Amino acid sequence: KKSLSGRSALSLLEFSSEEIFHLLDEAVKLKENPYSQALKGKTLAMIFEKSSTRTRISFEVGMLQLGGHAIDLNAKELQLGRGETIADTAKVLSAYVDAVMIRTTKHERVKELAEHATIPVINGLCDVFHPCQALADLLTILELKGTFENIKVAYVGDGNNVAHSLMIGSAKVGLNVSIASPLGFEPNQNLVEQAKKIGKETGAEIVVMNDPLEAVKDADIVYTDVWTSMGQEDEEEKRKEIFHPYQVNQRLMEKAKPTAHFLHCLPAHRGEEVTADVMDGEQSAVFQQAENRLHAQKALLKEILK
Ligand code: CP
Ligand code: NVA
Repeated sequence: KKSLSGRSALSLLEFSSEEIFHLLDEAVKLKENPYSQALKGKTLAMIFEKSSTRTRISFEVGMLQLGGHAIDLNAKELQLGRGETIADTAKVLSAYVDAVMIRTTKHERVKELAEHATIPVINGLCDVFHPCQALADLLTILELKGTFENIKVAYVGDGNNVAHSLMIGSAKVGLNVSIASPLGFEPNQNLVEQAKKIGKETGAEIVVMNDPLEAVKDADIVYTDVWTSMGQEDEEEKRKEIFHPYQVNQRLMEKAKPTAHFLHCLPAHRGEEVTADVMDGEQSAVFQQAENRLHAQKALLKEILK
């Protein structure tokens, strides 16, 4: 059995189902017992090329609660922002710190960092993936439903980084996913095929469609994300029009199971992808989900820095 020690987390594709279940188990334990010295003397560097509230704070607090330390690096203030290469940055960071987390524009940048670093690299969101979010999402669904078996998640909206990681993570743990996106905004076809293939082994049914009503039918979880991701601000007006029929509102929630919960990775825009009544209503578990970023990432850090 391969150990998680020294491993990078670029997407969830590189983790086996067993490893993901192990990380979720560890996260549950860390939620019960948050403080230890498991990462005493260890340092995480965090490179941010985009804004963040949850990722930045949960990683920093997570390291601290495990007896380690995190350094928050704004890419603009690094020499990286003045043209030093990712490869050189990777080599230098490898000499100083024990792991590096990066939030960046392109998945290629995350891969390049990992190729040249001799320490684990964690993807803290890029254009294609958001694996740490998906780990927290799975933890939340497990808490809410007690199992992944015969559970259906409906993701309604942009087939983006969050959708991709949710789809891959769900496929790995045997959780059914229906994704409804507007025409032309579906998740990446190649990733959908990979998820379907994984699902064949785990029993997860992965379906992509354009009709939000069909996707949420009898769903246990209804999930959405922003219509305009970071870096797509130019398309905001166009996207508002296209995505309008994909708003998660009470009418849509009523098509899901009466026991359904609403999830959103946050930040949310009330009145756009979700109405305020759903976001702040009884079915919403978004703040439990946000808290779980901390526990899930601590599990990941603890295992890869063992
Ligand atoms: N969900 C998420 O990644 O939040 P931040 O952008 O605040 O880190
Ligand atoms: N899809 C969003 C997620 C933010 C946490 C973005 O990439 O901006």
